[in-house]
This record gives sequence, C-alpha cells and structure tokens, in this order.
Amino acid sequence: MRLLITGGAGFIGANFVQRTVAEYPDIRVVVLDALTYAGNRASLDSIADRIEFVRGDIADAELVDRLVGGVDAVVHFAAETHNDNSLARPWPFVQTNIVGTYTLLEAVRRHDVRFHHISTDEVYGDLGADDPAFSESTPYNPSSPYSAAKASSDMLVRAWVRSFGVRATISNCSNNYGPYQHVEKFIPRQITNLIDGVRPRLYGAGNQIRDWIHVEDHNRAVWTILESGRIGQTYLIGANGELDNKSVVEHILVEFGRDPGDFDHVTDRPGHDRRYAIDATLLRTELGWEPRYRDFRAGLAVTIAWYRAHETWWRPGKAAVENAYAEAGERVL
Ligand code: NAD
Ligand code: DAU
Repeated sequence: MRLLITGGAGFIGANFVQRTVAEYPDIRVVVLDALTYAGNRASLDSIADRIEFVRGDIADAELVDRLVGGVDAVVHFAAETHNDNSLARPWPFVQTNIVGTYTLLEAVRRHDVRFHHISTDEVYGDLGADDPAFSESTPYNPSSPYSAAKASSDMLVRAWVRSFGVRATISNCSNNYGPYQHVEKFIPRQITNLIDGVRPRLYGAGNQIRDWIHVEDHNRAVWTILESGRIGQTYLIGANGELDNKSVVEHILVEFGRDPGDFDHVTDRPGHDRRYAIDATLLRTELGWEPRYRDFRAGLAVTIAWYRAHETWWRPGKAAVENAYAEAGERVL
C-alpha cells in the first residue's frame, strides 16, 4: 500500500507518520507539506530514510495530481489550524483549508483514490454548560474563520462523496495534546513559558472547557476509520476529557512544583467558544475504538517531560510566537 499524508510535518500529522512507519513497515509513505511556520521537518528526522518527503502546497493542482496518482489512499491533515491567527489574518485559512481540500478532492476523484479528511469538533460551534455533547448529527455552526473554513472543507468532502462517488470518510476530533505540538497552542505555550520562567497566560476568566485527547489516541482512531470506516460516514473522535482552561493551567503549575495560582489572566479571545464536548459512541460501538490515555494528568506529565527534553525542537519558534501575541494586543488584565 502507498499512502499520501498531507501536513505530515505538523503536530498530529508527524505523530501519525511516525506511528505509521513503526506499525505498518510495508506501507510506502509520501508526506506532502508546505513547511509553513507550523511545519517542522525535524519532527520527521528519526524516520527520514523511511519516507518520501515532498515540500509543496496542497493547492498546487499539478503537484497534487502527480502525487495522488501514485498512491492508494490519502490522509489529509494539512491546514491552517490556529484560531488566533485566523482572527488576525483569515485569508490563508480560506486558501489552504478550502481551496487546498478542493484541490485534493479533485485529484482523488480523477484517480479513484481512498480519502480520509481530518477535521475538528469546532465545526459544531460551542455548547452551553448543560447541553449534550456533539454527535455526528449536530448541525454545523462554526464561530471563527478557522472553524468556518474547516466546516466548508467538510461540506466539500460530503458533496464529492455524494455527487462524484469519491471514497471518503471524515473524522472530527476534539483538542489534542502531546509531543510535537507548536508552541503557539495553549498547553505547549504554558509549558515553555514555565521553562523560561514566565507565568502562564489564561485568556479571560479561563472557564472555557475543552475536551482533551492524547494525539496517539486520535491517530489510532484515524487508522481504525481508514481500515474499517464506512465510506461517506463522519466519525467523531473524543476521549471524555472535558476540563476548563483554568484547571489545565493549575495542573501544569503543580507538575512544575509551583503554586497553582501563579498565572496571569490576559485579554480574552474575541468570540471565544465556551465549551466543546464529544460523544464518540459511534466510533466506539461500530469500530471498537477506545482511548488508551484515560488519565489527563499522567498524559500531561509525559508531555511536559517531552518539552523539557526537546528544547532544541521548540526553541527556534518560541520568540516569534510571543512577539505575535504581544503585537496582536495581548495584555495582562
Ligand atoms: P499544525 O498546525 O500543527 O500542522 C499543520 C501542517 O500543515 C504543518 O506542517 C503545515 O506546514 C502544513 N500546511 C499548512 N498549509 C499547507 C499547505 N497549503 N500545503 C501543505 N501543507 C500545509 O496542525 P495540527 O494541529 O497537527 O492539525 C492537523 C489537522 O488536524 C488539521 O486539519 C486540524 O484542523 C485538525 N485538528 C486539529 C486538532 C488539534 O487539537 N490540534 C483537533 C482536531 C482536528
Ligand atoms: O477543538 C479542536 C481544536 O482545538 C482544533 O481544531 C484547533 O486546530 C486547535 O488549535 C484547538 O483549538 P483551540 O482554540 O481550542 O486551541 P488553543 O490551543 O488555541 O486554545 C485552547 C484553549 O485555551 C482556548 O479556550 C483558548 C485558551 N488559551 C489559549 C492560549 C494560546 C489560553 O487561555 N491561553 C493561551 O495562551
């Protein structure tokens, strides 16, 4: 089997490529990644001789057609992914997440190649405290330019399945944590701030809730869907990991041996989604998937240890991220 993985130098994609190479040694892996600020070739260093790496844009129709024509399946992770960036500069989100996905869909349609589309729970908008968790039948209601662009890409995939018979599945997952996550994101930002002696930064009151899942559990679910999922079906991926942001920061501080109140409240994100929660019943009952990381604090401790041990991986991007937050107007409340 030959597999094209887009966005394989990003956080979830790099973990997926590493897992694939380790567990499916007969698969020929091709990675297509533009190496934007979020992509890091070093995440694939340990397996560089086991994969073919192509630096390029998923919206480059000629390149995409050639690569898709040489594989049996595509797993599509590549995207612009950070909500704060989408508020500051929405265009790359429209271009990559919508036009890029369209370009891939046209290529898999031409070559009749199996396609798995990686998406997010944010397409469903947010929940009130007592609302039931998102399920596959929850109506789309995205809030930010990022989530609207991801929702658009999901709609394209559904249309290409129905109109053109493309053999595609979709998964919408909750917030991931683990190794190789960019330092702009919530958990790595706080961990690397603490390594640098800087207090963690909590948006607003910090009572927003995210449903945390370890990246390895997400990627095992993706493999399960790729192998056994029904064509045309959407599967939600989540591990019952609901936690408010303030509690996450407190857990990180405790892991560092610090006072759990030792953080700053900073300017809130405009339009900040209050709560995400996933009901993964379909994935569990139909495909038999179960998460292995059930203890968030244990997973967090391993993640902190990873960032402590891999400063050379994250250090080059750290100052630029903090400058960008400052330039966007973030200030201590
Ligand atoms: P990331 O930002 O860490 O990585 C994205 C990767 O895509 C980078 O390597 C980047 O270079 C590449 N890329 C960006 N634009 C490209 C383009 N035009 N052409 C080719 N490559 C391009 O992202 P991530 O957090 O690993 O997310 C991966 C996927 O998972 C995304 O589709 C995202 O929407 C989805 N997702 C993420 C989470 C999460 O918690 N991080 C949760 C659910 C779903
Ligand atoms: O739900 C899945 C989504 O999770 C993915 O689709 C996105 O690609 C991914 O970035 C993530 O989106 P969030 O906006 O939830 O993640 P982020 O890491 O940016 O923020 C998590 C929460 O923490 C959110 O409520 C904002 C808050 N936050 C974030 C940062 C960077 C802070 O309080 N302080 C911070 O410094």
